[in-house]
Amino acid sequence: MAIRPIITAPDSRLKVISEPVERVDDALRTLMDDMVETMYAAPGIGLAAIQVGVAKRVIVMDLSREEEPKAPLYFVNPVITWTSKELALYEEGCLSVPEFYEDVERPARCRVEFLDYHGKAQALDAEGLLATCIQHEMDHLQGILFIDHLSRLKRDMMLRKLSKSKKRQAEAAE
Ligand code: NI
Repeated sequence: MAIRPIITAPDSRLKVISEPVERVDDALRTLMDDMVETMYAAPGIGLAAIQVGVAKRVIVMDLSREEEPKAPLYFVNPVITWTSKELALYEEGCLSVPEFYEDVERPARCRVEFLDYHGKAQALDAEGLLATCIQHEMDHLQGILFIDHLSRLKRDMMLRKLSKSKKRQAEAAE
């Protein structure tokens, strides 16, 4: 397993629409293992493959608490087949949008169908943080970030700050 660098906004790669996975094989499991290790190291609770530069429809998540045993979830080719009319508000963050957190409203519950780590078809009915996290990660597969759900004013302000801090980091590395 290896930790891979996480791409941060603004970056055109984060806008790419990811391609479906054709086969869940050892190469894909290596990618998923790396993604989980990268997510734990960050630390974060969810990661889409595009965030490490791989445009495949793969998501990993782990919503277990610190004191609980790790419980990684793997979603290959996930499809949301149902969402509730009822909405829920969560303060979201993203490993690709470091240090920014904002409230985003999304359907409170959803059903997702996907292939698991072993390529087996699964379905999951999610609510609460899990439902929000799934929808946030699914957005990544469509090239959408949580800041795209905010007002243009707020988003542009965040992107300007992110741009500046990236520039500062690049200069410091020179
Ligand atoms: Ni994210």
